[in-house]
Amino acid sequence: MKATRYLHDYYAHLVRNYVLRQEERFLAMAADLGRAALRREVPLEEIAAMHDTVLLALAEERPDFTAASVVHLASPPFMEVLMAYGLAFRDQMEQRHAIEAQLLQARDAAEAASRAKSDFLASMSHELRTPLNAVIGFADIISSELFGPVGTERYREDARNIAEAGRHLLELISDILDVTKVGSGHMALDADEIDLVEIIETCVRMIHIRAEHAGLSLMTNVDAGVPRLLADRMRVKQMLLNLLSNAMKFTPPGGRISISAYEDETNEGIVIRITDTGIGMKAEDIPRALAPFVQLETGIARRYEGPGLGLALVKSLVELHEGTFTLTSTPGKGTQAEIRFPSSRAVRLSYCI
Ligand SMILES: Nc1ncnc2c1ncn2[C@@H]1O[C@H](COP(=O)(O)OP(=O)(O)OP(=O)(O)O)[C@@H](O)[C@H]1O
Ligand SMILES: [Mg+2]
Repeated sequence: MKATRYLHDYYAHLVRNYVLRQEERFLAMAADLGRAALRREVPLEEIAAMHDTVLLALAEERPDFTAASVVHLASPPFMEVLMAYGLAFRDQMEQRHAIEAQLLQARDAAEAASRAKSDFLASMSHELRTPLNAVIGFADIISSELFGPVGTERYREDARNIAEAGRHLLELISDILDVTKVGSGHMALDADEIDLVEIIETCVRMIHIRAEHAGLSLMTNVDAGVPRLLADRMRVKQMLLNLLSNAMKFTPPGGRISISAYEDETNEGIVIRITDTGIGMKAEDIPRALAPFVQLETGIARRYEGPGLGLALVKSLVELHEGTFTLTSTPGKGTQAEIRFPSSRAVRLSYCI
């Protein structure tokens, strides 16, 4: 008796779901119900009629709808069907729970593997950095002849090269560590009120000599009224330097690079845009360019250096600030990279009267 009662409640619940949400699943179950009824030699029309009555009653959303009203509408053959239906439903639920359990297990295993990978990369990066710093430090000491002359100019040059290669390797390790950190959700932002005008100036100052050597013109156009931003200063600088370095790397001599910043009052947000007149990318290649460790140009003919981490890092860092990152590009014409911070990150001055 208890089981039947349980089935009534269940049935009522499902029918209600169907009526209210038009669940397709219920339709399939209703078909099961018909087949079960046939097997038990209950006249199908009788079942169908009862079924319709229940559905109609529920469809009208009777205010007095309760499981009890279903009981009231049910008659002995209907109870049979309810049993069959209930059993079919239970089987289906059991199967579903088993699949869900398997999926959860697979997800846990994948998460554990990913965590192990992140931990490994994080500790390896740390272990690599310590001796590397020593290599750079000693190479600097030699090339600056701190404890006496090196003697041969050639050796001094070699020491300088060791330090430079070491710094390059250090940067690479930091990028790998950053990508791993963001990917595993371990990157925390150190948000502060920052001045975009000043940060952009600093970045431009850092790269302008390189741009000059590469035969590129560099333009800055920062709206003086752009509000201060609640963001991680070091990370914003890292984003801009990555994008500027891409613009320089992928623009042949004679090209133009520009960086602008303004507050977009129509669409709300603080926008920083870096454009170049370089080699560009095909629209369909952009999603790949944004993935870590991807360079669009691969193989022996590869002309540009880099592990392919820059854009992936920029995208993750912008998203950590609840912003959006968009790349638009035309092959042979140039690329535009846009960082958009939400206006909730703008710091407004409040005046006290
Ligand atoms: N401004 C650009 N113009 C043309 N292609 C670009 C531009 N920026 C990025 N790309 C393409 O997207 C790829 C990925 O860029 P990303 O910055 O992630 O890596 P990278 O510059 O190759 O290496 P890294 O930044 O790690 O030193 C580049 O290799 C290049 O093919
Ligand atoms: Mg890059």
